[in-house]
Amino acid sequence: MKTPRHIAIIMDGNGRWAKKRGLPRIMGHKKGVDSVKNIVTSCIKFKVEYLTLYAFSTENWLRPKREIKGLFRLLENFLDNEIKLFHDNGVRLRIIGDRDRLDARIRKKIEETEAETAGYGTLNLNIALSYGSRQEILNAARMLSKEVKNGRLQPEQIDERLFSKYLYTNESPDPDLLIRTSGEMRVSNFLLWQISYSEIYVTSKFWPDFREPDLEKAIEEYSKRERRFGK
Ligand code: FPP
Repeated sequence: MKTPRHIAIIMDGNGRWAKKRGLPRIMGHKKGVDSVKNIVTSCIKFKVEYLTLYAFSTENWLRPKREIKGLFRLLENFLDNEIKLFHDNGVRLRIIGDRDRLDARIRKKIEETEAETAGYGTLNLNIALSYGSRQEILNAARMLSKEVKNGRLQPEQIDERLFSKYLYTNESPDPDLLIRTSGEMRVSNFLLWQISYSEIYVTSKFWPDFREPDLEKAIEEYSKRERRFGK
């Protein structure tokens, strides 16, 4: 079986999972964290090198304050609880997105965990937080225009390789496989530049129900596909 080097996941359906059971949405997110842990462990097992998870979009700031608070608390607990897993398995954590919007406490926790795991790379775990792909691209365009304005760069030097260096994902290769749970056929402002040639796999399962066998199925489907990169 051909294993993708980089898997990106739009973790969707926590709310619906909870609603179906008459539970508050946050319980769906809580169960979703169990899936995150399971999938991180599976990626280590399957020797996936990069895993990028869409945990909180720029649009998600419009959700009720209580839900936002709950989500960040879950993330903080996840980082506390899994630091041992990161050390034991060489997992490097990186957060991608607009950090300025995160509160100081969570920013500090993120910075600590990133610094603590910076020497690893068996699995590179990217978590997208306050992330929006259009904003990421605009941000890159702004930084590049500044370089041109300062005379440090000629417009002709801006090619795909250079442009990619200005994205939050500058240290990761493009995803080979993009997975979305809960059946939605949308990209939702996630890695628009980076998924140009990714294989897309959509499952109807809600994220809290998505576990190792489901990941295995997605990888199996991926390994059957013939990637031509437009050729
Ligand atoms: C989508 O479900 C999920 C999210 C917006 C949050 C994903 C977050 C987690 C799984 C937990 C924290 C993350 C980490 C990395 C520890 P939804 O609420 O949009 O579901 P719905 O579409 O059914 O309402």
